[in-house]
Amino acid sequence: MPFPQTRLRRLRATRALRGLVRETHLAPGDLVYPMFVAHGIDRREPIAAMPGVDRLSIAHAVTEAGEAASLGIPAVLLFGLPASKDEEGSGAWDEEGIVQLATRAIKEAHPELILITDLCLCEYTSHGHCGVVRDAGNGLTVDNDATLELLTRTATSQARAGADVIAPSDMMDGRVGAVRGALDDDGHTHTPILAYSAKFASAFYGPFREAADSAPAFGDRRSYQMDPANANEAVREARLDVEEGADIVMVKPALPYLDLIRRIKDETSMPLAAYNVSGEYAMVKAGAAAGYLDERATVLEALTCIRRAGADVVITYHAKEAARWLQ
Ligand code: PBG
Repeated sequence: MPFPQTRLRRLRATRALRGLVRETHLAPGDLVYPMFVAHGIDRREPIAAMPGVDRLSIAHAVTEAGEAASLGIPAVLLFGLPASKDEEGSGAWDEEGIVQLATRAIKEAHPELILITDLCLCEYTSHGHCGVVRDAGNGLTVDNDATLELLTRTATSQARAGADVIAPSDMMDGRVGAVRGALDDDGHTHTPILAYSAKFASAFYGPFREAADSAPAFGDRRSYQMDPANANEAVREARLDVEEGADIVMVKPALPYLDLIRRIKDETSMPLAAYNVSGEYAMVKAGAAAGYLDERATVLEALTCIRRAGADVVITYHAKEAARWLQ
């Protein structure tokens, strides 16, 4: 009698056999490419902590979006850096705001590409918080309901500009329901919502905040983003978003939260996205630049494992290079 383990090894013998029994597949069609579009620049501005990712002018964003599409990436996610910031973040719902202008330009050039707009105020507020800051008597807090009003305005202006999917990332309570209602009232009944459902207060957003110039000027985001220690609460957040009308739920960041990708997938049966965030990207880039990691192997392994955990969609700054390696 051979060792029972032999049966496991037999199927690993050749590449073809390994491929035949592989449980998880990664393809360019699973990826979303995030982009930063900045008002008033006419060139690419490198982001120090995110080598290979730049702040883009609208023209460059159109080119990048076309490149992503030609690599088989079905969707891009847009973040905007406005001309100026104020207390309320009014640049977010300006009909001629940076995301609205970029959305129109990209949709005109690449109508087949799915354009997702990130819906949040932190890139537009002078204080860098994701909503309206109020002194509630015991110090400054973000006013949940006042913020909802501004978010719904922003969502409808993004949809009017041509966004195909709206992705609220602010973590206010009730925002999915509020945004769904506002979109429906404005005639965008067919525009899906990709909800950042379980978004943790994470150190892994560091490079993004440099890119979007959105680090909070005081305090932190722990009064609205989730405690990394909490898993049951993440499931409750996702369930609430589904009840309020989310079409796709998201877990963010991805790699330290693979358990939640699996749990939320199992418990909601919804299409699920995972956001492989700026800090996860920066770690791989730094490790590869130092010669500590094989970049291609590391990226493809990480993205495959995010899919294995249960993500249907992976949002990643590695999307273009991964798509090239996967051709
Ligand atoms: C906006 C937003 C953030 C990210 C996506 N949307 C930053 C934050 O919450 O501070 C982070 C993305 C990344 O790190 O790649 N609220």
